[in-house]
Amino acid sequence: MAKQFDVAVIGAGAAGMMCAAIAGARGKRVVLIDHADKLAEKIRISGGGRCNFTNINAGPQNFLSENPHFCKSALSRYTAQDFLALVKKHRIGYHEKHRGQLFCNESSEQIIAMLKAECSAAEVNWRMPCKVHGVTKELDGYLIDTDHGDLFAGSLVIATGGLSIPKIGATDLAYRIATQFGLPLVAARPGLVPLTFDGPGWEAFAPLAGIALEVEVSTGSGKGKHARNAKGGGLFREDLLFTHRGLSGPAILQISSYWEPGTPIMVNLLPDRDVAEELIGAKTTVKKQLGNVLTQWLPARLVDGLLLANGLAPDARLADMPDARLRKLGDAINRWAIVPTGSEGYRKAEVTLGGVDTRALSQQTMMAKDVPGLYFIGEAVDVTGWLGGYNFQWAWASGFVAGQSV
Ligand code: FDA
Repeated sequence: MAKQFDVAVIGAGAAGMMCAAIAGARGKRVVLIDHADKLAEKIRISGGGRCNFTNINAGPQNFLSENPHFCKSALSRYTAQDFLALVKKHRIGYHEKHRGQLFCNESSEQIIAMLKAECSAAEVNWRMPCKVHGVTKELDGYLIDTDHGDLFAGSLVIATGGLSIPKIGATDLAYRIATQFGLPLVAARPGLVPLTFDGPGWEAFAPLAGIALEVEVSTGSGKGKHARNAKGGGLFREDLLFTHRGLSGPAILQISSYWEPGTPIMVNLLPDRDVAEELIGAKTTVKKQLGNVLTQWLPARLVDGLLLANGLAPDARLADMPDARLRKLGDAINRWAIVPTGSEGYRKAEVTLGGVDTRALSQQTMMAKDVPGLYFIGEAVDVTGWLGGYNFQWAWASGFVAGQSV
């Protein structure tokens, strides 16, 4: 005889724990199932170990989805301020780092302990580590075949996340269950991920690993399928980092979610200067070598790389250079267009773009419109936030609304 519950949540990560705690607090008998040995590894490693647990400015404009309006309802019903109230209730010290990003003062372990405590207070039952072998729909609920025997629940919530960082337990279970019940998927791909480059156009930049600078970055065309779907998306001013295999840093992670393979990204290496105009203007007054002028504005090794890539000698005299040549160089600095070879993939991606197609879900409850009692929340669904605490806010908000509805 299967053990009976009102609600079964598969995946005890950010969204799953939030959902279980909210449902349990409403008096539901909840079982929370996870296959991992260690609880909520993604929260633990997040934000460099300090968990950027929300963003006080989070709104629908900070998310990518084929169905951009879908996230509005959950985000408005459970806001960053609501999560912050929970953090304060548990007396967790926090600080704002940058543009509304809130981090723990001490450790991401505090957020895990907080969610675990909320689940305990709501008398959530745990099955962990526990493998799920399959789920079947019965007349009045779902039968879940697990390592710990059969479990039966009236509502089933899938909170198993996306595919990023497989070595800490990411699986495609959410997509398999969605497909089993006839829900469509939006193709998954790595997001918030470093981009890789090679080939002749990259040779001059390959030795620059370690250089970091603030840039403005956009998708080359601005017409990508994903760029279209987030208002104001596709242009970020953040730090860029040269790596051994390509480009990383917040600017690149942000744009990677908008990038479409085969298309260029556009980097403005000096967003506060019109390089061509300034170089042309300096021709008559500055009797300097080109390299020396540029190193006032950019790291010297980057200047070497840029001049090499543009076939210019560092000791070329500014005064001797035709305006057209300086305009071309200005373009290469203010509008550096490069086509990534690929990305570092799920191994390094912070999130997975795509997932369960939200057009098949209710935005008020996260329940599948055509499959009563089956819910999908968190990163498993096709809602992906920018870098900066937005993805956790989506996990909390979608977990909350499902927890209220199950
Ligand atoms: P999450 O991945 O948290 O949880 C899924 C759970 O399901 C896991 O516990 C897993 O073990 C379990 N599971 C998977 N398959 C299963 C199966 N077959 N059977 C049973 N259980 C299964 N976001 C942010 O807002 N601020 C930040 O600072 C960071 N930092 C960050 C750093 C790094 C390195 C990464 C990889 C990611 C981030 N993120 C982030 C993103 C954030 O971690 C992510 O969006 C949320 O954890 C998603 O929450 P979910 O609950 O949907 O999935």
